[in-house]
Parts: sequence; structure tokens; C-alpha cells
Amino acid sequence: MTDVRPPAEAPAGTESLRDAIAAELLAARARTAALTDCVEDHDLTAQHSPLMSPLVWDLAHIGNQEELWLLRNVGGHDPMHPEIDPLYDAFQHPRAERPSLPLLPPGEARAYAHEVRGRVLDLLAASPLEGAPLLDAGFAFGMIAQHEQQHDETMLITHQLRKGEPALAAPPPPPAPADAATLPAEVLVPAGPFTMGTDIEPWALDNERPAHVVDLPAFRLDTTPVTNGAYLRFIADGGYDEPTWWTPEGWAHRQQAGLTAPLFWRHEDGQWLRRRFGTLEPVPLDEPVLHVSWYEADAYARWAGRRLPTEAEWEKAARHDPVTGRSRRYPWGDGSPAPEHANLGQRHLRPAPAGSYPAGQSPYGVRQLIGDVWEWTASDFRPYPGFRAWPYEEYSEVFFGPEYKVLRGGAFAVAPVACRGTFRNWDYPVRRQIFSGFRTAADVSDHGEA
Ligand code: AVJ
Ligand code: FE
Repeated sequence: MTDVRPPAEAPAGTESLRDAIAAELLAARARTAALTDCVEDHDLTAQHSPLMSPLVWDLAHIGNQEELWLLRNVGGHDPMHPEIDPLYDAFQHPRAERPSLPLLPPGEARAYAHEVRGRVLDLLAASPLEGAPLLDAGFAFGMIAQHEQQHDETMLITHQLRKGEPALAAPPPPPAPADAATLPAEVLVPAGPFTMGTDIEPWALDNERPAHVVDLPAFRLDTTPVTNGAYLRFIADGGYDEPTWWTPEGWAHRQQAGLTAPLFWRHEDGQWLRRRFGTLEPVPLDEPVLHVSWYEADAYARWAGRRLPTEAEWEKAARHDPVTGRSRRYPWGDGSPAPEHANLGQRHLRPAPAGSYPAGQSPYGVRQLIGDVWEWTASDFRPYPGFRAWPYEEYSEVFFGPEYKVLRGGAFAVAPVACRGTFRNWDYPVRRQIFSGFRTAADVSDHGEA
């Protein structure tokens, strides 16, 4: 078999697909280990916030989902420890309740995940990786690598909420942008149809499917995410005290929760500081704002005379190639994310300054759509036309509806395997412990004026 296409675009032959899967499983486990080996056992079993599970729950849940989907559903194995299954079923126990469950202690949780992984690698070596929907293109393996990485993001949120001395080693900062000062504030995306979602991305999850054409009016979109410096002007202008900028629900929440600034910020001696993974530092003005709720993002946009982009607008700006008319996998093309494209994978543990990653920009010139901060959109989390829940209803379907807002693009905390132009995340509009930021959009009138 000869394949002359470069590796990034080549449909992997079975051996290279097997290697790619093994590499993704290994990368996920290395991240899990980095996030759980850096603290003492009492830190793993403690609950650092009622919003989060103890880290030791995530650890065993990662192993349990891998056992369920790969060893049992793909491999036909019997359950290893059926009595623990209910403990690690996210739908049986809300996060706040999990510390009081008889969870596996850290050593046993690690040993369980390790034993599952050993058997999974044996299964992978013997699996045809085709001939059944869960196996085709290694989908179930890809789903499990993404699942572990999603929990690695969740565990990084727990680290951010954790009080006390820093536990994670401080990585190097992201590269500074060379041409940020000369970037236009916004770009124009002309009216017209584009293809949203996908039928061909092999490891796309159910909510990203199917591909469908969406016709949009022209709109303008910020070239970069909104920065801390811009957000500070909203604060200084009394944005948190002016109900005009807020939706009624947003204003009620702002009052009840006493919001005055992004989460983890404090004002001390005339200076804004933020706590980031246990370190207090001045708020960097040129970085995308982080840890804001949908309500805050929406209020800022109204104050700025703008609005949040819809999910479809975000995806058109990120994927549509106006020259070929087709949708790309990523803003820069179809090749997998490399370090020059985007700030992903917990390499830097912070967003890069606005305007970074010129090599990652979209055909319309929009930057940092992938990586850095999750971007709130105006849209509720809804199924695409023709959606089918697969392989389980609890991944997406049970969350569809008006109570969740969609976030796009991934953050510095997100692994490349769990991030692409079609990937959809969702959360409640009050949430801000997540790595959330936003950019704004504006309508274009019939005369082409903003
Ligand atoms: C897609 C991030 C909303 O963490 O609740 C993890 C991912 N689903 N285990 C979540 C997920 C099942 C999910 N989000
Ligand atoms: Fe999970």
C-alpha cells in the first residue's frame, strides 16, 4: 500500500493508526500523572471546591470509562470491579457529593487505571480497527483519549481553585506576538453559506455531526479575544453597576453573587492582581480575559456597542475558506495543531497575549480562535439538524436546551486531540471557574457599514 500524502493528511494505515492511538493514550496518561503526582494524597482526596470532584475521583473515573468503553464494549471483557461502577457514574452522584463516597484511595485508583490501560494496549494490538461503528477509524479509542484529556482539563480547573502553595511547575510563557500593534481590531466576514459541523472528522463526537449548510448575513468579528486591558475599561466605566448592559437574569446573578471583576481577581493598593495556580501576579493587560461568566461576557459586549457572536458565526470565521468554499478542520488548514498554530495542551498554563500565533490565523485573518481561552458564544447548546446520539445519550443529548451556552475553540488547558474547528463545549451561563473568555461581533448593515 502506498500513500504519497503527507502524514498529517494521510488516512492512517492500520499500523500508523494503531501508533497514533497509542501515542494519544500515552499523552493523556502523562498529563493525568503530571496533574495527580504533584500533590500529596490528602490533596487528591480533598474537595477543593463544591464545583469540582476530588482529583482522585477523576483519576478512577478515567480508568472506569476506559474499562467500560474499551475493555467491555469493544473487547467483550467482563467487568473488573462491578461494585465500583456506580461510584464513578457522573449521573448518579453530583460533584458536591463525591468526597463522601467510599472512593478508591489514591494508590488503588492509580493501580486500577494502570491495569485497565495495560489490557487496553493488548486489545489495541489485536483490534482490526474497522468492521464495527465503535471500531471504525479507532473511534472508541479516540473517544477515550479525548475523555481522559477532558478530565485533565477538569483537574486543571481543580488546581486553579485549590488554595495554598503552587503545586504545578511553572512552564515557560507563551511567545510574544510580533505584529499585534498593527492588527485591525475586527474583520469582515461577508454574507453567504458555509458548511457547519462534520461527517468526515473521524473522532468528532456526536454533537459535531452531521455537516450541514448554514447561510449567514455578513458580520464583523474581533480579530482577537477581548483583553484584560479592554475588560478593565468596562470595570472602570462602572460596567458592573449599570443594569443597562446586563440581561435581567445576568443582572440578578451579578447582584446575588456580588460580581465586581473576573474570578480570581482582587484590587489591592490601586492595582489589579489575579491568582493563577497558587501565584498572585499583576493582571497582564495584553492577555485575553479569563474566568468570566457568559453573563459578564454578554454585558461587556453590550457596553462595547456589540454582541457575542453566534456559534455559527464563530465556526464560519474559524473554518470557512472563501477561496475553495469548503470548511477546514482548523483555522490554518487541515493539518493537526503544532506549537506555532495555537496555545494548547497545558504547555504554558496561561493564555498568550492577544495577537499571538499569526501562523494559526483563519483565512479571514482572525487570530487565536483555537487555544488560549474558551470563547462564549450567544448560542444555546442545541442538536444540529439530523443529530443522532452516539455512542451514548449522556455525552450530549441530555444537555441540549436553553440552560447551557456553547463555548468554542478550546483553551490553553485543552489537548489538541480534544480540540478542532467543529468541537463544541457547553456550560451554565453563571460558570467562570472554567477557562472562559470571549470575543465580540457586530452586525453589518445593508450598505456594508458596521
Ligand atoms: C464537554 C466538558 C461539558 O466535562 O462535563 C467528560 C466532557 N463528558 N466526561 C464535561 C465530559 C463526560 C464534558 N464537557
Ligand atoms: Fe467523564
